[in-house]
Amino acid sequence: MKALTWHGRGDIRCDTVPDPKIQDGRDAIIKVTACAICGSDLHLMGGFVPTMEKGDVLGHETMGEVVEVGKDNTKLKVGDRVVVPFTICCGECRQCKWGNWSCCERTNPNAAMQAKVLGFPSAGMFGYSHLTGGIPGGQAEYLRVPYADVGPIKVPEGLTDEQVLFLSDVFPTGYMAAEHCDITPEDTIAIWGCGPVGLFAIKSCLMLGAKRVIAIDSVTERLALARQAGAETIDSNASNVHEALMELTTGQGPDAVIECAGMESHGANSVLERAAAAVQSTVTAVERPYALNEAIMACRPGGIVSVPGVYIGPVGPVMMGAFMNKSLTMKTGQTHMVRYMEPLLKRVQNGEIDPSFIITHRTTRLEDGPELYETFREKKDGCVKVVMRPHG
Ligand SMILES: NC(=O)c1ccc[n+]([C@@H]2O[C@H](COP(=O)([O-])OP(=O)(O)OC[C@H]3O[C@@H](n4cnc5c(N)ncnc54)[C@H](O)[C@@H]3O)[C@@H](O)[C@H]2O)c1
Ligand SMILES: [Zn+2]
Ligand SMILES: [Zn+2]
Repeated sequence: MKALTWHGRGDIRCDTVPDPKIQDGRDAIIKVTACAICGSDLHLMGGFVPTMEKGDVLGHETMGEVVEVGKDNTKLKVGDRVVVPFTICCGECRQCKWGNWSCCERTNPNAAMQAKVLGFPSAGMFGYSHLTGGIPGGQAEYLRVPYADVGPIKVPEGLTDEQVLFLSDVFPTGYMAAEHCDITPEDTIAIWGCGPVGLFAIKSCLMLGAKRVIAIDSVTERLALARQAGAETIDSNASNVHEALMELTTGQGPDAVIECAGMESHGANSVLERAAAAVQSTVTAVERPYALNEAIMACRPGGIVSVPGVYIGPVGPVMMGAFMNKSLTMKTGQTHMVRYMEPLLKRVQNGEIDPSFIITHRTTRLEDGPELYETFREKKDGCVKVVMRPHG
């Protein structure tokens, strides 16, 4: 089958790879009808994530039609239309029982390797390095879904792929980030980054009843989408973000802040950082906490710092003094997908939100994938979200 594969920093290809096969009784194989490129994939493309190997199949935002089911899987049957969450969970371990689905103790085949980095393993994930299991991803014609009797949700009649695809990751991720802010009707929330995660965080903050949302980015089209989603905006190229936030909140600061940029955030020194990263000979680039620090500095004392933005290793320097002395609370994590997929599907079904509003680029050819990765990374042509339909 055809699949998008990683071959090194900035080197994404469309290769022919072996078709996936059932390996365990709980597995399912799906024919991928739609898949997307995520900001997290850019961290792989940028060489920020160690333990990627040449030829690894990418992609973790995927949906499709079940074409084969393992003998022990009683939940799915051939022909079901499903959305697959990006984290894989067993449903039985302590963490799954607690609802910390992305911390599942059983689904990462390389748990020992991940434990060296994190102190404990995390759940297995599709197409996200060997630290999270080396599990082939879903930017492909077919996908093997391990533990397919736990994570995937069935799509009801009447909803298009584009309306439900983002239940695989970025909609629940924006929602969890908003939920982490413990929103009250008096609250002003500031959000760094108006990519897909930031845009869903804006919508989610408003759905959860926030009084105001202020969103920050430097990309014109994304700021326009943020305003359409209901946020006030600050263009970080045009103004000093901290000063603008203080002005908009009459010096009070936001009650909670959400960092939706992650380890590749831009900052005053990013040109230098990029230059340093560019000459490194390893695949590992330097993670940058600019947006995180701006968020910590702007948050009002006693407020909450919600971090859906992804980090992998040590990040420095972080404004720990401001964080500690202002009595802030941080909430973060890979999204606990199973908590959110069904409830958010209901919100799509009853018309509260149509998640397809973020899609700017579509293709029916996986061969276009490498170029679309580039378009998405460079935010060319107004690109916010790429959706690929490998079978047309
Ligand atoms: N926690 C999770 O489970 C989870 C899931 C999906 C994605 N993510 C992460 O969320 C982050 C965002 O994902 P995305 O798909 O929206 O990515 P994206 O790359 O499309 O968007 C990031 C946005 O942040 C903006 N940005 C960069 N630096 C900034 C700064 N200093 N101030 C304000 N804005 C800044 C960029 O211009 C861009 O628009 C990534 O780190 C991704 O890995 C986390
Ligand atoms: Zn993602
Ligand atoms: Zn588990």
